[in-house]
Amino acid sequence: MSDMIIETINLTKQYGEQKSVNNLNLQVRQGRIYGLLGRNGAGKTTTMKLLLNLTNPTSGEIRIFGKNIKKDAKKILPRIGSMIEAPGFYPNLTGTENLKIFSLLRGTPTRDAIQNSLETVGLPYGDKKLFTQYSLGMKQRLAIALAIMHDPELLILDEPVNGLDPIGIAEMRSFIRELSSIKKKTILISSHILSEISLLADDIGIIHHGVLLEQESLVNLEEKNEKYLHFIISDPFQAARILEKNFNTKNFIVEQGNSLRIYEDHLPAALLNRTFVENGLEVSEARTCENSLEDYFRRITGGEGIG
Ligand SMILES: Nc1ncnc2c1ncn2[C@@H]1O[C@H](COP(=O)(O)OP(=O)(O)OP(=O)(O)O)[C@@H](O)[C@H]1O
Ligand SMILES: [Mg+2]
Repeated sequence: MSDMIIETINLTKQYGEQKSVNNLNLQVRQGRIYGLLGRNGAGKTTTMKLLLNLTNPTSGEIRIFGKNIKKDAKKILPRIGSMIEAPGFYPNLTGTENLKIFSLLRGTPTRDAIQNSLETVGLPYGDKKLFTQYSLGMKQRLAIALAIMHDPELLILDEPVNGLDPIGIAEMRSFIRELSSIKKKTILISSHILSEISLLADDIGIIHHGVLLEQESLVNLEEKNEKYLHFIISDPFQAARILEKNFNTKNFIVEQGNSLRIYEDHLPAALLNRTFVENGLEVSEARTCENSLEDYFRRITGGEGIG
């Protein structure tokens, strides 16, 4: 049997002219933490809403647990726990009371379930504090407790660390990891912060303008594009033209400060250097650098900084 928990086939969601999700082929395997990484407006929330059958795709298909979401939503959805938008908790009830109400609504009201889920996220059971008095971190925890209360196999969490302070983020990370390692959940989590995702995820999907640019295990991704040649050069634009013409590559970026990064580590630096100089350029620096994952992400999502 396939270990694919989520699989989308050419999934597309179009709003007016814009394809917010564009031919997405997402593959989330059993027991993994899959990080969907993308900048604001990349299509993360839309993707998750599609997976949860909260909105209809324009085209394409979604399979979860090997079943088609359109045909088997009633069987699939109870096996998923999600946090997409802030759940509508009652401000003047305690966290425990809120969970009790939701569990009654869902028809799964067991004290153990509520207690266990609160314990997992580090909130006290039966505490008197009202939801309105909760800090943001506590609110986020309660939302996760709600998502896991019915012991789902799959969790879909949209930016669960958004707005949390560094300690809150670290705590959230540790119990998400626990849900994966101890409780064996498959987890799809989104973020716009690469450093967060790379500390947590086993697999990473990079989404940009609705397109999945990359889908890899973190290990493979970290090995990718490790090295680049960094030149400081009198006219990087002229150098860029030379690279295209003489070396038949566009795999470089020109940056401020006469800087040029070339992501072709098979090209000998000495040869490039000589060619630039022969074409009248002045090279003041040439060295091989390690590429961080951050650089890679920045490069494939269009240059500007993120997170
Ligand atoms: N209901 C809608 N109607 C029209 N456009 C929409 C709708 N929902 C989302 N969009 C557009 O789809 C694109 C993707 O939005 P989405 O919310 O999925 O991005 P995101 O990756 O979750 O961003 P963020 O990091 O800001 O949460 C955006 O351009 C957004 O404006
Ligand atoms: Mg979003």
